[in-house]
Amino acid sequence: MGVKLIKGGTVVNANHIGEADVLIEEEKIVGVISPQSEIAISALHGDTDIIDASGMYVIPGGVDAHVHLQLPMSPEATSSDTFASGTAAAAWGGTTTVIDFAGQIKGTAIPHAIETRLEEASGQCAIDYAFHLSVGDVNNQSLIDLSNMLEEGISSYKLFMAYPDSWYSDDGQILQVMQLAADTGAMIMMHAENGIAIDVLRDQAFERGATGSIWHGRTRPPELEGEAAHRAIQLAVVAGSPLYIVHLSSSNALNEVARARNDGKNVFAETCPQYLYLSLEEHLDQPGIDGVRHICSPPLRKLADGHQDSLWKGLRTDDLSVVATDHCPFCDAEKRLGIDDFRQAPNGLGVIEHRMDLLFQGVLQGEISLQRWVEICSTTPARLFGLQGKKGVIAPGADADIVIYDPKKEHVLGAETHHMAIDHSAWEGVSVTGQAISVLSRGNFVVQNRQFVGEQGHGKFLKRNIPDFLR
Ligand code: URP
Ligand code: ZN
Ligand code: ZN
Repeated sequence: MGVKLIKGGTVVNANHIGEADVLIEEEKIVGVISPQSEIAISALHGDTDIIDASGMYVIPGGVDAHVHLQLPMSPEATSSDTFASGTAAAAWGGTTTVIDFAGQIKGTAIPHAIETRLEEASGQCAIDYAFHLSVGDVNNQSLIDLSNMLEEGISSYKLFMAYPDSWYSDDGQILQVMQLAADTGAMIMMHAENGIAIDVLRDQAFERGATGSIWHGRTRPPELEGEAAHRAIQLAVVAGSPLYIVHLSSSNALNEVARARNDGKNVFAETCPQYLYLSLEEHLDQPGIDGVRHICSPPLRKLADGHQDSLWKGLRTDDLSVVATDHCPFCDAEKRLGIDDFRQAPNGLGVIEHRMDLLFQGVLQGEISLQRWVEICSTTPARLFGLQGKKGVIAPGADADIVIYDPKKEHVLGAETHHMAIDHSAWEGVSVTGQAISVLSRGNFVVQNRQFVGEQGHGKFLKRNIPDFLR
């Protein structure tokens, strides 16, 4: 593998942008140097591999902090991207680290959940990966197991205020896990929707014959996301733990996060491309399979209510710190389960390949700056989930996870050309400008000049540290 020099590009970090060459030795970045420096000039005459990045941005590989690969959502539906296909698709789009979930189902033990997931992913991934823990059964043993998991590199726990039939924890259970996180420094991730109230609304709707996909949205109103976010924040404040609200979709929830952050609390939130670009009126409110394909939770929100504008504003003001995908794709065969009863549709969309490109449109449209793009897609997720210094930055000592990004390349998204294992696309026909041309993971090409040259099994499991969230 040896020494590589990425030459002639514009290096974009969250805190700096400038013309620089990037020197890589084996798996690490060893220098970010002036193109006129002696090292850069002498490299041209040695046996260094020179990678031409003229006219390109050279950015840290994307860190997608929320994905669900081969997730068994129900006995009938498992998310369609495997660890192999999903990590390859991520790399095609300029993401070099994914954080998936090990899930503790009710009545089972946490170590079992982790072992199972490690086995499933081992030898499969094209890029590096890690796991959060979805906690589905909070009891005394779970609390002991959670603190032991820190040594295994699992330093973040997802709790659910939604899904009363499966993943739900009540406020007392949530408080206990938050107290543990306050002691250890682990990160609490929250699915903030009031699932008890939502289930009443869902069943009432179905019983009066309201069965179509639009009712998925109408029975999960933004008020019940705002309420849950408020409650989660108060519980975290009482416990003294950090809190990260996942897949935030509404201005209702965002206002709660903004208030807490103004009060100086360690409260963070992520949104996802689907909430920035897709809507209840245009996508969920379609007949048949077209609407069902867009069922995800929280649901797509009403464009007319201004949620998308609020989310873009939140990304600018840092009330939203991260954009992740919540990638959870299902093919039409599985989505059809929800055609006559929206409650039966497996929840989730396919996004893992397109996150960097979709957010780059925000740069081109003046919603966010170039550096902010890198910060929300790469640097901050690395910091908030214990990968600081290793991922999300182009600096000496960091892993050589690097994307050479052409800001001018125009292309059209869709099922014919994407690499995700899904037979349709929520992004069909969307024209974008900007594309990852070459992608390196720990100094190895995974994508080179738009050819996949990666290897299944190259990706390593990342043991994560305690999150770095205080400045
Ligand atoms: O619809 C979604 N979000 N599916 C994935 C599961 C979750 O709650 O994140
Ligand atoms: Zn969730
Ligand atoms: Zn999710």
